[in-house]
Amino acid sequence: MKTVHIKASTEYDVLIGRNLLSSAGEKCASLFGKCRAMIVADDTVAEIYLETVRNSFENAGIPAFDFVFPAGEESKNKDILFEILEAAAENELGRNDIMVALGGGVTGDLAGLASALYQRGIKLVQLPTTLLAAVDSSVGGKTAVDLENGKNLAGAFHQPSLVICDVDTFATLSEKVFSCGMAEVIKYGVLFDRELFEETKNGITDIEKIVEKCVVLKGKCVAEDEFDFGSRRLLNLGHTFAHSIEKMSGYEIAHGEAVAIGMVMASELSAEIGICDSSLADEIRSALIKNNLPVSCELGFEEIRSGMISDKKRNGEEIAFILPESIGKCVIRNIKF
Ligand code: NAD
Ligand code: GLY
Repeated sequence: MKTVHIKASTEYDVLIGRNLLSSAGEKCASLFGKCRAMIVADDTVAEIYLETVRNSFENAGIPAFDFVFPAGEESKNKDILFEILEAAAENELGRNDIMVALGGGVTGDLAGLASALYQRGIKLVQLPTTLLAAVDSSVGGKTAVDLENGKNLAGAFHQPSLVICDVDTFATLSEKVFSCGMAEVIKYGVLFDRELFEETKNGITDIEKIVEKCVVLKGKCVAEDEFDFGSRRLLNLGHTFAHSIEKMSGYEIAHGEAVAIGMVMASELSAEIGICDSSLADEIRSALIKNNLPVSCELGFEEIRSGMISDKKRNGEEIAFILPESIGKCVIRNIKF
């Protein structure tokens, strides 16, 4: 098992390894002592992993109850958020108890925000079961739900107290959901690490090592700029376009797919304004295609632009774009769009 320590306002460990779900309860018991757990999962993940996780908590002496919601981005809304909060209150979850997010980024964002709000904040444990959640959303404390007007518009920073990433759970992912995680891995390569970028082109052999590398890179950004006013914004490479693409497609295009398309758009914009050579966009496109990711969509430029208007990354007339200069180096530019 690998351990990455994250230094934010709350410091915590990210444990990465195999067969970790069945010992999640034990790890929580030794870290948090006497407490109860509320496990939040979507119905797809609950069917496969909930029993293992619940048993692991019960066997470790942590009484557990669960909240299960319909899988999909459509559930990342204020209604499900408040259903989680009501369920926590009905079950008398207390301030020393823990909320456990078992699932992908949607579950992590929902349970994350619920744990930030419930009784003004209780401990959160992230058990990511998608590659995307493992390398990105379970670490760093961003939590949110979508509003009618756009993605992630209501949220809070609330760091988890522990992240346990059992990479065995990736075995049950669909090819598409696995690829969505690869979009974020490629993002880290484009941002910081040419070697990691090259690895994504040749087929991943050691997934634990890849998750560890990404979590270390994310941990550095979070330690440097936890609240996202400076260098952490680099992690939004492709996201300015992606959030609009997701919204304008009615969430038919998944987050990871939209990030892939967004990274191509960002590199094309970067070439257009002379920050990089146009061959860079080709290189990024080719890595994404090798990982079965889309590199374009049917939405028109005007549609995507109008969807960006409500994005958080907008500042007055300008939008902060993350633009690749070369593989391993990106810059932030405010551009009138
Ligand atoms: P997701 O949580 O919807 O999971 C995708 C699908 O995979 C779902 O249908 C889910 O039921 C299924 N699934 C999950 N784990 C599984 C498993 N092990 N086996 C079989 N099926 C499984 O989506 P995602 O791609 O994990 O995350 C996308 C979300 O994360 C978006 O809402 C995005 O905005 C958010 N996000 C947040 C951050 C952050 O920092 N908070 C960062 C990146 C993305
Ligand atoms: N996913 C971008 C961030 O955590 O900042």
